[in-house]
Amino acid sequence: MKRILLRCLVAAAVAITAPIAISATDDQKTASDMPLAGSVSKDDGLKAWQRIQAVITHPRCANCHVGADNVPRWNVVGESKTRLHGMDIHAGFGRAGIPGQTCTTCHVTSTAPNDVPHAPPHVGIAWQLAPVQFQWFGKSGAEICQQLRDPRRNGGRDAAGLVEHLRHDALMHGFIPWGWNPGGGRGTPPGTFDSHVKDVAMWGAAGQPCPE
Ligand code: HEC
Ligand code: HEC
Repeated sequence: MKRILLRCLVAAAVAITAPIAISATDDQKTASDMPLAGSVSKDDGLKAWQRIQAVITHPRCANCHVGADNVPRWNVVGESKTRLHGMDIHAGFGRAGIPGQTCTTCHVTSTAPNDVPHAPPHVGIAWQLAPVQFQWFGKSGAEICQQLRDPRRNGGRDAAGLVEHLRHDALMHGFIPWGWNPGGGRGTPPGTFDSHVKDVAMWGAAGQPCPE
């Protein structure tokens, strides 16, 4: 009995202190990620954008950033083309599934490795489509660039906020780091999670230039 009580107290203490500790390191990390405004040329910013574009149009990212049909896309290992998610899955307007069959019915929330080929991938947060205003699937790089730098269409984020989102997602074991560690023999976007964070920070410091 005593031991159970002690365990509860420890758990409560961890629950109270952990988020504070996490957000402090999170902020420090973001601040050190961002080069000084004006220290990156427009040219280098555009080059960073080209690398960002290659990542976010990759199936590991774009298959969840789909349009208003609310249907996730699939690139099954061993097949070359992108198709609609199997089993007639529909995310509904809420983008997380329909009553009785949410995405998390199959895509459980877990930080365990995604080892098993063809198993539904899982991460540390609840699996769901990105909001429809973050649609990348089927859009041109120039269109996505305009969306990503527009706080009215990117979740209210300025340049530093976008970098912070990446770091925060990594702390939560979310979708973005999963892209480079998807398991099951799935392909990954070019570069690494860290090189992507660096590119988003460089692009931001250059004033978020977009291709014409
Ligand atoms: C399982 C689905 C899923 C996958 C896969 C996914 N995302 Fe997302 N993404 C989301 C959801 C849900 C949100 C909304 C979360 C939020 O805004 O806080 C989001 C939001 C974002 C945002 C916020 C700003 C914006 O305008 O979109 C960025 C940036 C982003 N994702 C990048 C990526 C990258 C890079 C990858 C691939 C490495 C990726 N995502 C893969 C579901 C996904
Ligand atoms: C009935 C089970 C089931 C449900 C429900 C389900 N999925 Fe899946 N999903 C799978 C399986 C299985 C795979 C892996 C397929 C493979 O790799 O062969 C998968 C893979 C995926 C992928 C990875 C595709 C890729 O190429 O990287 C995405 C994205 C995805 N699902 C999104 C969703 C979303 C969003 C929902 C909710 C609207 C959802 N899924 C609901 C079973 C399910």
